Amino acid sequence: MNVITVASRKGGAGKTTLCAHLAALAQAQGHKCQVIDGDPQGSLALCNRLRADAALPFATAERGIDRALTLAQAAGIEWVFIDTSPTMWVVVQEAIRAATLVLIPARPGFLDLDAVRETVKTARERNKPYAVVLNACPVKRGTREAPAVAQSRAYLQHEGVPVFAGQISHRASFSSTLADGASAGEAEPASLAAAEIAKLWTAVEKSVAAINQHHAAAAATASLTQGQAA
Ligand SMILES: Nc1ncnc2c1ncn2[C@@H]1O[C@H](COP(=O)(O)OP(=O)(O)O)[C@@H](O)[C@H]1O
Ligand SMILES: [Mg+2]
Repeated sequence: MNVITVASRKGGAGKTTLCAHLAALAQAQGHKCQVIDGDPQGSLALCNRLRADAALPFATAERGIDRALTLAQAAGIEWVFIDTSPTMWVVVQEAIRAATLVLIPARPGFLDLDAVRETVKTARERNKPYAVVLNACPVKRGTREAPAVAQSRAYLQHEGVPVFAGQISHRASFSSTLADGASAGEAEPASLAAAEIAKLWTAVEKSVAAINQHHAAAAATASLTQGQAA
């Protein structure tokens, strides 16, 4: 089971938005998905409720992330998407510890970039793969990134922080589609918003495949060396 934890200390960075759109897209592609709302504010729960009949399997973190994940695993879920609060509370720590990959949304701009530090530090300490996703970016002109986006990307790369190669632009439809109980891909499949989320999802899938392959290789090496030692 793959666990994508969306985390950032900064409120309004886009955690809930990205979580909801990614989970809906993964589900639409035929994966068995679950969403976990780890934020007591309940925004992801609301997005999921608005989906009515198309709601994804859902859990809160009220009784702990680990318990919710054990139940998801038992139900045969393939991908879990965990939304978190803008804190470093124990639930967020648990969600990061349980993650296959941590996504850290950040708006371009120095205050937002500064706010990713703590989440990056936590992911690094727990040896968790992570990447920043630049969100709510000014729309590109042709293929050119806006200066604020290019500068943010350069800053993060200079700090050795992995950054998603694409961007999620500031588009009203990222919000309005969720309010209508759908994701960008479902409501407007041919839209630029849908294309941006699809590109992010492809990158997530590729990263997770590489992470799992790495774990499998490490496990094989460990069992081999244990075999040799025996
Ligand atoms: N890419 C985007 N384009 C337009 N609005 C966005 C985008 N990402 C987030 N928003 C809006 O910004 C606000 C905060 O986003 P949200 O996902 O709730 O952030 P967080 O969960 O990190 O607090 C919401 O009103 C949301 O609709
Ligand atoms: Mg939120």
